[in-house]
Amino acid sequence: MKTTQDEKTGLVSVGLEDDDNDNENENKEKHQHQHQHRHRHRQQLTRWKTISYISMLLLVVLGTIMISMYKNNSSSGNHDKSYKIKIASGGFDNTDSSSSSSNMHTNDGGNDGGNDDVIVTPMTITYDYELYDGQLLFTSKKLEIIPNVDFDYSILGMSSVRNINVETNEPVSLDEVYVHHFTFSPMGMLGAEVLTRNGSSPYMKFPNGYGLHVIYDDTPYIKINAHLLSSKDLEPIDGSISLAHKHCNECYYAPGKGSDCTPDSSGTFKCCGDSTSCIVDREQCACATTTTNNINDRSDKVMATTKYQVQIDLLISRDIHKFKRVDQWNFAAPACSVNLHGDSVFHKYSTDSFCFNRTSSMILGIGGGSLFHQIELQEDVDHPYVETKISSIAPASGKIVWAQSHLHTGGVNATLRLNGEIVCSAGAVYGTDTDVKKNARNEQNHLIHIESCYDTQIYQNDNSSTVGINFNEGDVLTTETIYHGGIDDDRFVGYGSSGEHKNVMSMFFLGVVFEGDAEYLTKKRTSFNLWNDFVRIAGYNNTSNQTLSN
Ligand SMILES: *[C@@H]1O[C@H](CO)[C@@H](O)[C@H](O)[C@H]1NC(C)=O
Ligand SMILES: *[C@@H]1O[C@H](CO)[C@@H](O)[C@H](O)[C@H]1NC(C)=O
Ligand SMILES: *[C@@H]1O[C@H](CO)[C@@H](O)[C@H](O)[C@H]1NC(C)=O
Ligand SMILES: *[C@@H]1O[C@H](CO)[C@@H](O)[C@H](O)[C@H]1NC(C)=O
Ligand SMILES: *[C@@H]1O[C@H](CO)[C@@H](O)[C@H](O)[C@H]1NC(C)=O
Ligand SMILES: *[C@@H]1O[C@H](CO)[C@@H](O)[C@H](O)[C@H]1NC(C)=O
Ligand SMILES: *[C@@H]1O[C@H](CO)[C@@H](O)[C@H](O)[C@H]1NC(C)=O
Repeated sequence: MKTTQDEKTGLVSVGLEDDDNDNENENKEKHQHQHQHRHRHRQQLTRWKTISYISMLLLVVLGTIMISMYKNNSSSGNHDKSYKIKIASGGFDNTDSSSSSSNMHTNDGGNDGGNDDVIVTPMTITYDYELYDGQLLFTSKKLEIIPNVDFDYSILGMSSVRNINVETNEPVSLDEVYVHHFTFSPMGMLGAEVLTRNGSSPYMKFPNGYGLHVIYDDTPYIKINAHLLSSKDLEPIDGSISLAHKHCNECYYAPGKGSDCTPDSSGTFKCCGDSTSCIVDREQCACATTTTNNINDRSDKVMATTKYQVQIDLLISRDIHKFKRVDQWNFAAPACSVNLHGDSVFHKYSTDSFCFNRTSSMILGIGGGSLFHQIELQEDVDHPYVETKISSIAPASGKIVWAQSHLHTGGVNATLRLNGEIVCSAGAVYGTDTDVKKNARNEQNHLIHIESCYDTQIYQNDNSSTVGINFNEGDVLTTETIYHGGIDDDRFVGYGSSGEHKNVMSMFFLGVVFEGDAEYLTKKRTSFNLWNDFVRIAGYNNTSNQTLSN
């Protein structure tokens, strides 16, 4: 199809960094939505995948935990498909062993007028896509949009993400589709490790009385950034299928991944389908496979695809005023160091660094952090570990009510510190099963799970006046991660699977309630989702003439 200049403008800037820096352009985009929507819709129909819908599902796939959650509650007469529950029994944690969660009491955090009843509704978002073998899918949040439900709501929790094969309805192995990440704004980034979550071990939950806010006027669309890599029937590299998976998942250079993917950009998003050549110029960008798909054949012939569906389970409430708004403050290490002209004066960044050749406004957009970095081979067998960190200063006082790390394969643990004291340390869990037919959620050579921070002080006390971890303006929050870069890493099997790791991430995502009286903090708005030192881009429309021109 013909790509117009307009589309190009939208598409050329589709780096993950732009996509995850949503709030900045939210208002500009909003004005454009109306007249571009039809246009985009037409374009989407020509794409490989189709966008599905938000469905309000009743317990169908949510499992027994949800049922036990609702067991004592009567359904409300005038809200179809929803249930009436106490705030104190909200959340996913009824079967948790943690004793504090069974201690229910009236919680007046963010509550109006002494009415403790709220309506909580399970919501499932589904996203259909299809991939030919080896295909590298990266969707632009600017184009991949689903109309939101047309009311304001609060997100109280998220149990899990499933990636299923549409024909068999079975979960898909990471050896067939590597879930690099999946983002549906305003929610943060979800990685492969979220697939092992379920109702009794939910990915996201907040203390009673807290939730993300989604305001329809701010957020008429849910924007999807799906980064899903087919690794079905990969062609072995140097005789090793393990190495082939690593090269595909970790964005190594190879011919056939688009003309922006060069040996110099090995390990960057450009070798993972996130490039102008793959998205705008529509080159076929894929990892080499043994099946008939010929990656060097750039013709438009239709190749056999497999149909998949991502399913995301949320708990929402329309009683939004009963939940204090939680904003998402994310950290991504290491820091990029550039001056106002975008020149790096303290470090010379190599071409495969996230910080390489970035303008200051691009770096500002993600608060100065790196969305990925590289772990070099550690030759000293006695010192295989690599530490990566970033610190940010709290721009206001506030309370941490949720924290979750995101790491990639090779990661060992991640630690969040407040003024040097450990707030949470989360370990990474690796799979052990090599059989791609049945190893979904326990895949050998994959990081399949990252521990929660629910056992920390954040959750030890459900007294609403002491819950969470308080911090003050000027406090220092540090994210530090440990990766194993040695050959001698017994979590991996197969030639080439251990040692260096490319395109890894070192992140902590926080749910935070900031205290302050500025309009940006007090006005009704969708929860923000911003990175590191975010202040200059928060409330962008209001303060744009005071910030750096960008
Ligand atoms: C839920 O997830 C946890 C953590 O991955 C796992 O240990 C547990 O077996 C799962 N429970 C069910 C019912 O699948
Ligand atoms: C640096 O980025 C600019 C666009 O921002 C691009 O035109 C230029 O080719 C890049 N330079 C290198 C060496 O990649
Ligand atoms: C993280 O892992 C490293 C390597 O095993 C270990 O030395 C360190 O103590 C761990 N950090 C925490 C906070 O547990
Ligand atoms: C909650 O904590 C506050 C301050 O520590 C205390 O005054 C109050 O009695 C506690 N409430 C409950 C229900 O424990
Ligand atoms: C936004 O602008 C209004 C009106 O100019 C001002 O009163 C308010 O303090 C500003 N808010 C922020 C967060 O700068
Ligand atoms: C900024 O955007 C908000 C909606 O997000 C709107 O209510 C407000 O009026 C805007 N402020 C300015 C100064 O344009
Ligand atoms: C910023 O913009 C507002 C509204 O457009 C205007 O009134 C104000 O003078 C501007 N401030 C500066 C410093 O340019």
